[in-house]
Amino acid sequence: MPNTAFANRSHEVIESLTDSGQLKPFYNIASPMRPVVEIEGKGEVLVLCSNNYLGLADHPQVIEAGVQGLRDYGAGTASVRFICGTLKCHRDLEEKIANFLGTESALSYVSCWNANEAVFPTLVGPEDVILSDELNHASIIDGMRLMSKKVTKKVYKHSDMQQLETLLQETQSHAVRWVVTDGVFSMEGDIANMPRLVELCKEYNAMLVVDDSHGVGVLGPTGRGTHEHFGLDGSCVDVFTGTLGKALGGAAGGYVAASQNAISALEQKARPSLFSNALPATVAYSAGKAIEVLDNDPSIVARLHSNVKKIRDGLAERGFDCTPSPTAIIPIMIGDEAEAIKKSAKLFEMGVMVIGFGFPVVPKGEARLRVQVSAALSDDHIQQALDAFAKL
Ligand SMILES: Cc1ncc(COP(=O)(O)O)c(C=O)c1O
Repeated sequence: MPNTAFANRSHEVIESLTDSGQLKPFYNIASPMRPVVEIEGKGEVLVLCSNNYLGLADHPQVIEAGVQGLRDYGAGTASVRFICGTLKCHRDLEEKIANFLGTESALSYVSCWNANEAVFPTLVGPEDVILSDELNHASIIDGMRLMSKKVTKKVYKHSDMQQLETLLQETQSHAVRWVVTDGVFSMEGDIANMPRLVELCKEYNAMLVVDDSHGVGVLGPTGRGTHEHFGLDGSCVDVFTGTLGKALGGAAGGYVAASQNAISALEQKARPSLFSNALPATVAYSAGKAIEVLDNDPSIVARLHSNVKKIRDGLAERGFDCTPSPTAIIPIMIGDEAEAIKKSAKLFEMGVMVIGFGFPVVPKGEARLRVQVSAALSDDHIQQALDAFAKL
């Protein structure tokens, strides 16, 4: 028998979103992720909303590696790692990630969401304090909610290094101070002030945690991420978290890269790996290959940087207010959520896929279109996108 109270409530939620023009459309894609995809019932559209920053999601070597993973190891171990063991492909991937970022060790997860849910409750102790940027990703916020209730949490205004310093001064009595930030902020497309963060963490002996999901593959001459953009090496960050679901192949998966001590603690204690299966071998292979492709050919990163510049300059020339930033995320502020969704639908009609974001993904009244750039876009694709924005 259906539960009527629940059925009525769910119906009301959808009805109210529909009435206010805030209902998110969901599209069915009938092709691999690439600059132009086939949308069921709609035809081909140019994609400017994917995290496929390096265009590796359908790279022939990445696909072939995934197929090989399936052949070598089948679908998976049907168990978590501490029960049935770790596949060699997981160790290989984790070594590649650690080498790529310059950390002692790394551990893979089925998503960066899981990695962030592993890090905070496992590594942060009850006597510690955690200082977090107000615009950090939802997975950091939710991960922090899972920490011991005794941990003191303080949120500093977005990228406000003065407020962070004050908080560091006020919290000297805590056992360990943790500063946590996105490298690239996913909705703003701006970059954390890594040089100052590193300086402050050194001065106040605090641990620096950086989720560089949108920085890896995108920033720095070889795509190592936000720290490389500022000429720093990976040793300036105590704990990296990141995703394999964006620039590094785009399938799924995440990781923590840190000291051997931190990784051993996660292996022993972190609930997302103790109670949940490891990455499928297919993804361990394909993401490992994506890192190899990037490492062997940093010119893909240069191509991405050039496309970012062309699109940012082109949008600015057409009257859009794009804050200067080298990242591949370009928010176009709209304000009203229904208006953002309407503008996104208009672009879609013109064959360009750019999504409108509203609450709860961004604060109320700060709805926006988010343009994302890929190295795989040709000059013709870029022209097509800019023409559509000019018409909009
Ligand atoms: C900064 C940041 N961290 C974590 C995630 C979650 O990544 P995943 O899809 O691997 O769970 C995202 C994805 O949107 C993100 O932008």
